[in-house]
Parts: sequence; C-alpha cells; structure tokens
Amino acid sequence: MTTAGPGTTSDPALRGLFFEVTTLSGTDLSVQIGALRLANPLIAASGCFGYGVEYADAVDLSSLGGVAVKGLFLKEREGHPPERIVETPAGMLNAIGLQGIGVHRFVREKLPELRRLRATVIINICGSTLDEYVELARILSDAEGVAALELNISCPNIKEGGITFGCSLPGTFDVVSAVKKVTPLPVIPKLTPNVTDVASFARASEEAGADAVSLVNTFLAMAIDIETRRPKLSNIVGGLSGPAIRPIAVRMVYECRRAVKIPVIGMGGIASARDALEFIIAGASAVQVGTANFVDPFIWSKLLDGIGEYMRRHNVARIADLVGTIDTTSREKQWISS
Ligand SMILES: Cc1cc2nc3c(=O)[nH]c(=O)nc-3n(C[C@H](O)[C@H](O)[C@H](O)COP(=O)(O)O)c2cc1C
Repeated sequence: MTTAGPGTTSDPALRGLFFEVTTLSGTDLSVQIGALRLANPLIAASGCFGYGVEYADAVDLSSLGGVAVKGLFLKEREGHPPERIVETPAGMLNAIGLQGIGVHRFVREKLPELRRLRATVIINICGSTLDEYVELARILSDAEGVAALELNISCPNIKEGGITFGCSLPGTFDVVSAVKKVTPLPVIPKLTPNVTDVASFARASEEAGADAVSLVNTFLAMAIDIETRRPKLSNIVGGLSGPAIRPIAVRMVYECRRAVKIPVIGMGGIASARDALEFIIAGASAVQVGTANFVDPFIWSKLLDGIGEYMRRHNVARIADLVGTIDTTSREKQWISS
C-alpha cells in the first residue's frame, strides 16, 4: 500500500497534508527508459508542476518516477500577457508562452534543491533555433543532478522554433541528432499531436538516436467570448489539455508504440489510475500527469494505489509486463475460430 501521512515538510501548516508515495509491497513498479531506471512509471508533466520544488511540501519528490520541469530556454522569458488560461468542458486551454527563469538561474537556484530532495529530474528544453537546443543540452550535461532531457519541439504557444521542428520530419531528425551528439544524457523528444501521422515523427526521432519519445503536448485550440466576439486568450489560440484529449492521446501512443522500438512515454488527460493504466496497456512505458495536478496536487498516491490494486487483481508482478499488452484480436475472429 502507499502511505499517506505526516511527512518531513518544513511548513507546519502542511504537515498533516504531506503525502509520501512509497513502493507498493509485492509489485515491481520500476520501468526502464533507455539507460534511465525510474522507480515507478509516474512523471509530473512539464509546465504543470513548476520546477518541482514548489510541490515539495505536498509530495515526496523522490517517490515519483520523475519530475519534468517547466520548459527552459537559455534566457528568462516573460511569456504572454493575460488571459493565458481558459477553462473548457473536460479540459483547459493555455497560452502561457513558455514563461520561465532561463537555464542559468535554474541550474543555480532550483537544481541544488531538486538534488537535495532526490528527485529524478527531467529537463524540458525549448529553443528558437537548433543551436539553442544544443547549447542548452551542453549546459545541462555539465550540471549535476539531471537525469534526462525532454526536447520540447511541440509547444503550440511560441512563434519561432519549438513546434516548427516538431511539425517537420527533417526538423525533428536534425534537432534530435544534434542534441544527441553533445550529451550523454537520455534524450526524449516530446511530440506534438498537431500532425497527421504522429508515428512518423516517432520514427524520425528513433532514427536520429532518441532514447524514448514522449507524447502528447497540447492540441492547438481556441475559445471565443460570444458577447464581445473576442478570443478568450490574449494569444488568440492556445493548447488544449486535460480529459478532453485523452482518447486521442491514447490512440497516438498506441500508434507510436507499434512504429518504434524505443520506449514511449504517454500523457494527455490522465486523472485516475484507470487512465494511467489505459496508456500503459496501449504501449506507454511511463506516463506523465499534467492538468490533473491543478485539480488535485495529492493525486500521486491515489494513482499508485490504484495501479497497485489493479496489478494485484490481475496478478501482474511487474508493471513493465503490462506495457503494450492491448489485445486487439477481434471478437468475430475468436468466434469463428472457436
Ligand atoms: C499550463 C500548462 C503549461 C505547460 N507547459 C509546458 C512546457 O513548458 N513544456 C512542455 O513540453 N509541455 C507543457 N505543457 C504540456 C503538458 O506537459 C502536457 O503535455 C499536456 O498538458 C497534456 O497532458 P495533460 O492533459 O495531463 O495536461 C503545459 C501544459 C499546461 C496545461
């Protein structure tokens, strides 16, 4: 069982709320992502968990499979002006515009604390140019306490770079191979769902030497105030996340898993253990949880409890054995052959 109880938080007001997420007895939750071994398949998704340290009073970061920090550019960025977030049925629309403190401040101010908290840190990096990705990868490879690099080539909220690479097969190949050349860290391109054939982008990533792929980033979307006839977001368009996108994301994970041999990390609308298991059965070796953090920051122990309960009920000793076990045999075929 996971334990939910008083932990080692520094803030007395939060002490009773602190949740420690521990290994479930009798089940092996560890997963392998390239050379990286994660204690369990649950990773906090980039942009939905700050730099991790902000959540340290609520969640024992060392007990998560990993923490993907907010996307980092070389320099600090202000992002877009408000309105930057709009609630939608079963989801949210955001156009933050990758606001952030930049890589140098991150390495100085946040990384030492993440090291102290023994978090498995995945750095989400963003660039306006290929050289910027390369420079970021160099800097972070020299920093102590980075477990992997997630290449954000899929953010729909910036004008240059990013998604421009992620929407072009040669662009994806080039950025992944350029980063691979300069870093010993596992490289995980994060794919956009805003393409016709996402599996071909997983293939281009694999051919370029990626250690895994993660998907999906948000779906390009918009919302309009009908009274003023103005877009609800200052950026006019934004990215849709949350339960609304889950079935499309599950389908994309399934397609990528069939297309490549490298591990696939799945995300999009996960809000319960059942959702996480759906991605794992579709082919995700690990999953990321984003928007659900805004609804319930204590979601992690519930997810682990639910996954453990499922594994015991289905006699699954190792979570890794569940990955991609979807049975697509048609009922009709079974009936004919029996
Ligand atoms: C407010 C917000 C900020 C985000 N920022 C980033 C980011 O910096 N880098 C990135 O790769 N993805 C970012 N994402 C995308 C999420 O990491 C995730 O891919 C997406 O939201 C789908 O997962 P979810 O439905 O569980 O949120 C952001 C999403 C939201 C909602």
